[in-house]
Amino acid sequence: MKILAFESSCDETSASVTEHVEGRNTVLSNIVASQIDIHAAYGGVVPEIASRAHTEAVSGVCREALSASGCSVGDIDAVAVTAGPGLIGALLVGVSFAKGLAASSGKPLIPVNHIRGHIAANYYSENPPEPPFLALVVSGGHTSFIRVKTYTDLETVGRTRDDAAGECFDKTARVMGMPYPGGAMLDRAASLGDPHAFDFPSAAIPGENLDFSFSGIKTNVINLIHKFGQNGEEVPVNDVAASLTRAVVGSFIKKLSVACDMDIIGNGIVLAGGVSANSHLRLGVKTFAEKRGIRAYMPQKNLCGDNAAMIGAQGYFEFLAGNTAGPGLNADPRLGDR
Ligand code: KG4
Ligand code: ZN
Repeated sequence: MKILAFESSCDETSASVTEHVEGRNTVLSNIVASQIDIHAAYGGVVPEIASRAHTEAVSGVCREALSASGCSVGDIDAVAVTAGPGLIGALLVGVSFAKGLAASSGKPLIPVNHIRGHIAANYYSENPPEPPFLALVVSGGHTSFIRVKTYTDLETVGRTRDDAAGECFDKTARVMGMPYPGGAMLDRAASLGDPHAFDFPSAAIPGENLDFSFSGIKTNVINLIHKFGQNGEEVPVNDVAASLTRAVVGSFIKKLSVACDMDIIGNGIVLAGGVSANSHLRLGVKTFAEKRGIRAYMPQKNLCGDNAAMIGAQGYFEFLAGNTAGPGLNADPRLGDR
C-alpha cells in the first residue's frame, strides 16, 4: 500500500510518499520545507507566520514528494495527515489540503496524531520495535512516557507537568546567544564541555511516577547564565551545555529505571521526537538498556524531527484499524492519547 502523507503541525511543511508491504515500511520520498529561518528572527515560532508559510509551501512540497517518489496521485492508495496536536492554524493548512486531495482523487483520508507519528518514525528501522513497548517522546512541545499496547492503542503513563525538555534546551540556548531552535547546537556544545562543571536539579519528580518538571532546572540554568553576565564574566557555554545535558539525560534515565520497576517496558524502550536526535540522550538510553538487558530503539536521525514519513507510517496502522475520516475532519490542537 502507498500513502501520501502530510505534516504541518508546527514549523515544517512536509509531504512524503511511503510504502507498506507485509509489515515492511519504506520511505519513497520525504520532503521537508523548514520555516526555521523565518522564525529565528523572533526567537521562536510565530503561529500566524507559520500558517501563512505552510499555505505558500504545501502545494509545491506535495508535488516534489510525488515527483521524488516517481509516483502520481493515481498510484497512491490513501492520504494521511497530522490532525493534531499542534498549532491550530498550521494544522488546518495540512488538513484542508489533504481533505481536498482525498476528495478529488477518491482516496481514503487518514487522520494521524502527531505524537503517534513521532513514535512511528521507528517503524522504518532495520529491526523495528513491535508493541507492546514503552515510548519516551521528547520534543519541543512534548515530554511524555507512552505505553504502546498495540499500534493504535496507546496510553500516556507519564508527562511533564510544565515545560517540555526541548523547550528547556531551546530557552537555555537562546539565553546563551544561540539561534532558534538551539537544541542541536547545544548538543554539539555539550560534547566539548565538562558535564560535572555545574550541578543542576533533576527534572524527575520523586516517587513511583513517570512525571517530570523542567521549569526548575530551566530557571536554575538561566539564573546561572545571568550571574556570569552580572559579574562581567564570559559564560562557559560548553560547560553549561554539558552540565544541563547531564541533568536532563540523568532525569530520563532515573524515570526509565522507575518504569523498569513498574514492569511496563514490554518489548523495549523506544525514543521519539525532535530531542531523540540528541547524541548524549541516545548514548545514555543505549547504555542504560544494555546494562538492564532490555532493547532500546531510536529513529534514524533524519526522521527524529517533524516530517511526513512518520505520519505515513502511523497512517498505515490507523488505516488497518479502520480509522479513516470523511470530509468533516477537523484539526484538533489538543488531540491526545488518554
Ligand atoms: O519533534 P520536533 O521537531 O517538534 C515538536 O514536535 O516539538 O522537536 C523539535 C525540538 C526542538 O526543541 C529542538 O531544539 C530539538 O527538538 N532538537 C534537539 C536536537 N535536535 C533537535 N534537542 C537536543 N539535541 C538535538 N540534537
Ligand atoms: Zn514534533
